[in-house]
Amino acid sequence: MTERIPGFNTLAIHAGAQPDPTTGARVTPIYQTTSFVFDDVDHAAALFGLQTFGNIYSRIGNPTNAVLEERIASLEGGTAGLAVASGHAAQVIVMHTLMRPGEEFVASRKLYGGSINQFNHAFKNFDWNVVWADPDDIGSFERAVSQKTKAIFIESIANPGGVVTDIEAIAGVAKRAGVPLIVDNTLATPYLCKPIDYGADIVVHSLTKFLGGHGNSIGGMIVDGGTFNWSREGRYPMLSEPRPEYNGMVLHETFGNFAFAIACRVLGLRDIGPALSPFNAFLILTGVETLPLRMQRHSENALAVAEWLVKHNKVAWVSYAGLSTDPYNKLAKKYCPKGAGAVMTFGLKGGYDAGVKLVSNVQLFSHLANIGDTRSLIIHPASTTHRQLTDAQKVQAGAGPEVVRLSVGLEDKDDIIADLEQALAVD
Ligand SMILES: Cc1ncc(COP(=O)(O)O)c(C=O)c1O
Repeated sequence: MTERIPGFNTLAIHAGAQPDPTTGARVTPIYQTTSFVFDDVDHAAALFGLQTFGNIYSRIGNPTNAVLEERIASLEGGTAGLAVASGHAAQVIVMHTLMRPGEEFVASRKLYGGSINQFNHAFKNFDWNVVWADPDDIGSFERAVSQKTKAIFIESIANPGGVVTDIEAIAGVAKRAGVPLIVDNTLATPYLCKPIDYGADIVVHSLTKFLGGHGNSIGGMIVDGGTFNWSREGRYPMLSEPRPEYNGMVLHETFGNFAFAIACRVLGLRDIGPALSPFNAFLILTGVETLPLRMQRHSENALAVAEWLVKHNKVAWVSYAGLSTDPYNKLAKKYCPKGAGAVMTFGLKGGYDAGVKLVSNVQLFSHLANIGDTRSLIIHPASTTHRQLTDAQKVQAGAGPEVVRLSVGLEDKDDIIADLEQALAVD
């Protein structure tokens, strides 16, 4: 009998999970413990020497987190996952595994603003240098690559929404340069887009958003695509050279196509320390069970809102790749055929004052700095997240005075639209 390959909905509920072997608990328990008792001295030695898999200490691994890791890796089509404390922590751990001081990575200019800050400022303290490229001009990635380049970083659907990146084309640049392509798949989630299918080598997530999906936990995930040859030319010494921390073990040689995830865990998470709380892993796992249903509804509601906004006389423009008239619609159809997600931006003809008025008058929408909740969320970046920038910088970051960002929730779409309608009607 051939073994059935489970579908995405089944994996979202079952991947990585078994009834608890001790109690029979059907839902993955919260293993709220710092440490795990060894069978004996030999078992402890084997665990510390990476000769056997198992639990030591929850900074390095935890059984609740392990279920989440296996589930997301399985949904993304990767070989292994590593759960960490936040999306930003995932980016630090990935880069720590790839980069040495003085080296570079190329990143798309169209990224979440917090990632732009992290790359421009925090990463400079490690002497990891970002070179920016324009996702609308694939040649700019090619030109940005140098001998010092160690990775390329893009978002599948870019926050603040609307922009879909041509993953396959940029994967081609990465292959020619001999570097891994890292895709932040937070806004799409593997339900809408699977970057590894298009040539990505590493996927990162802020679990805080749609994977958790309920606005209750911060978390991050790294997925190893298992696709990259870390030993070629010895450019990634963390993976291809003997590690003094592990008696000279060469991680790529020992762990093959999941060596990157292992390196992130045993050299990154172990030593830098941003571990995910098992309680958060539990909440996020519960969220992931309904991911397909939620992403479908998010995308349907967002499209209805975008189509309504386009026709509103106070709205100057709408940026949402799901709209058939949107410049990114063709890419959305290729990479996200089931829907373009929940997040969009639009511009108000009344500029800054109209933006402030709208966020002050919504009732169903929550005015806050997050995306990916069941609830509909709204923010006016120019008066909040981007207020410290100059006017020119705001415009360049897609946060001009008239811009409003929505993360459309799962409420009835008529209620969502009615709330925007009443708030826009206020004079
Ligand atoms: C696309 C994207 N990547 C990464 C992050 C950072 O994630 P976290 O807030 O979990 O650190 C965010 C947060 O908004 C995001 O939207």
